[in-house]
Amino acid sequence: MDKKRFGPTTLAYPMPAFLIGANVAGKPNFLAAAWGGIACGEPPMVSIAIHHQRFTLKGIQDTRTFSVCVPSVDQVAEVDFCGIVSGKNYDKVAACGFEVFYGELGNAPMVKQCPVSFECKLEQMPDLGSHFLLIGRIVETYVSEDCLTDGKPDVEKIRPFLYSSGYKKEYHSFGEAIAPAFKRGKEIKSRLNPQSI
Ligand SMILES: Cc1cc2nc3c(=O)[nH]c(=O)nc-3n(C[C@H](O)[C@H](O)[C@H](O)COP(=O)(O)O)c2cc1C
Repeated sequence: MDKKRFGPTTLAYPMPAFLIGANVAGKPNFLAAAWGGIACGEPPMVSIAIHHQRFTLKGIQDTRTFSVCVPSVDQVAEVDFCGIVSGKNYDKVAACGFEVFYGELGNAPMVKQCPVSFECKLEQMPDLGSHFLLIGRIVETYVSEDCLTDGKPDVEKIRPFLYSSGYKKEYHSFGEAIAPAFKRGKEIKSRLNPQSI
């Protein structure tokens, strides 16, 4: 297949749609973030790329804490709003009707309406250019009771959504499951003899 080169880009699909929360001058504020994900398993860590100019960043630097909230498809308008206006100019919590709660750390605001929230302690913040890469240690995870099946978080009840950048900038819901993970590849493996290198 012929390939067209696009140079260095940030077009990695899919991207999550998160709300990142911090208290800025004592008031909760949230921004939308798509450039993030899990960064380490033990201890559990997240990484989020935050532009130098974000208002939320001030709060994260001051308190050394932040939250990563996973919204559901029901909150798509609120997430987009939090991604197009700054807390410098708007009270986003009031405008979105967010019910804010706090956990272990006491100053990482989280949104009750979001089915999943991670409370994080800032560990490192390398400056990569336009963005800092916030690396946060997850100190607690909160999941709405009504999103559990047999006591475990159920993605079909959480109903998170994705952001796709590039030609069309859009939000997408999840499609149906296509295969069991860590199992589907066994079919190929079973046809092979392992190499010893
Ligand atoms: C879908 C979407 C994803 C975004 N992802 C990021 C991101 O990963 N990092 C970032 O710094 N800004 C991101 N933004 C932009 C910020 O959310 C936006 O600049 C916001 O207004 C900053 O709010 P604040 O000034 O209150 O912190 C994103 C915006 C949208 C709509």
